[in-house]
Amino acid sequence: MEFVHVPLGNRSYDIGIGSGILSRAGYRIAPLLKRPLVAVVTDETVAGLHLEALLDALRADGIEARCLTLPAGEGTKSWASLERCVTWLLEQKIERSDLVVAFGGGVIGDLVGFAAAITRRGVRFVQVPTTLLAQVDSSVGGKTGINAASGKNLIGAFYQPSFVLADVDMLTTLKARDLRAGYGEVVKYGLLGDLKFFEWLEQNGQALIAGDVGARITAVKWSCQMKADIVTRDETEMGDRALLNLGHTFGHALEAATGYSDRLLHGEGVAIGCALAFELSARLGLCSQEDPSRVRAHLRRMGMKVDLSDIPGDLPPAEALLEMMSQDKKVVAGQLRFILTRGIGQAFVATDVPGPELLRLLLDEV
Ligand code: GLY
Repeated sequence: MEFVHVPLGNRSYDIGIGSGILSRAGYRIAPLLKRPLVAVVTDETVAGLHLEALLDALRADGIEARCLTLPAGEGTKSWASLERCVTWLLEQKIERSDLVVAFGGGVIGDLVGFAAAITRRGVRFVQVPTTLLAQVDSSVGGKTGINAASGKNLIGAFYQPSFVLADVDMLTTLKARDLRAGYGEVVKYGLLGDLKFFEWLEQNGQALIAGDVGARITAVKWSCQMKADIVTRDETEMGDRALLNLGHTFGHALEAATGYSDRLLHGEGVAIGCALAFELSARLGLCSQEDPSRVRAHLRRMGMKVDLSDIPGDLPPAEALLEMMSQDKKVVAGQLRFILTRGIGQAFVATDVPGPELLRLLLDEV
């Protein structure tokens, strides 16, 4: 197992990354416990594939697990599921010093982290992410929450886990499309802050997607280290953490425009959003025109969606997309904060993006 440390004072924790390490879950979790009991919350898909393996690993270290299985899918990030989860934790008499295990992808990690944050004013929790997106992004950094009728992730809390265990073997059961969508978040790290990582992905991205275990471990570790560095500098997104939203303002608007449906997965929206952010940066004279071309070429070679025309079905007109962007929760004092770039690996937060240039880009692309 390899480790990335997230140094946040008394909220510090480690991320364990490796192949076959789910079997070590009990060994890693046992030292965190006051009594040999955990509450595991998962979804139906993960439960069918991996729950027995997790329970075996916990039993091997004498840990009893109580389990709650929720429906799979974004609909589970709701008030109703939150109430169900918190009520269940209280029924199980889970105490503040006990531990909750979030076993699943981003939906389960976000929901269960938030439930842990508010149950008894905070029960510790461990993330065991099972998707690429969750392993490189959502399980790390303490963003937890649910969706509101008016938008995604609008209700939540910053609440750090006590440990994250990322076993890349979990990725073998992912659908190819979900794996590629998770890759959108991986490539984001190279694009926002590390040209060397992007170059490494240009060389190794296809092996990663094809199942190369070494490539998967390297990519997850590299991404987690970059995220840990940013979160350590800015835990609650007052500054630098916004860099992690490269591609997300475009991406969120596209997700809203496609009704958060199967037409566009979150990571697919992020990849298209990254391509658009590079294109906008080039048009504003911030980076060379070769940069957006190189980004798009890599995404294309990886079999990802790159252009708005890759999204099936009709999109709303450019003006409506622009309006959707202004609903983004990263708006500060009415100003859209965009992540732009001076080149690959050189993203920065911009608050002065000219609306007409943005509209022209969307008019050209839609
Ligand atoms: N997913 C972006 C962040 O954690 O800040």
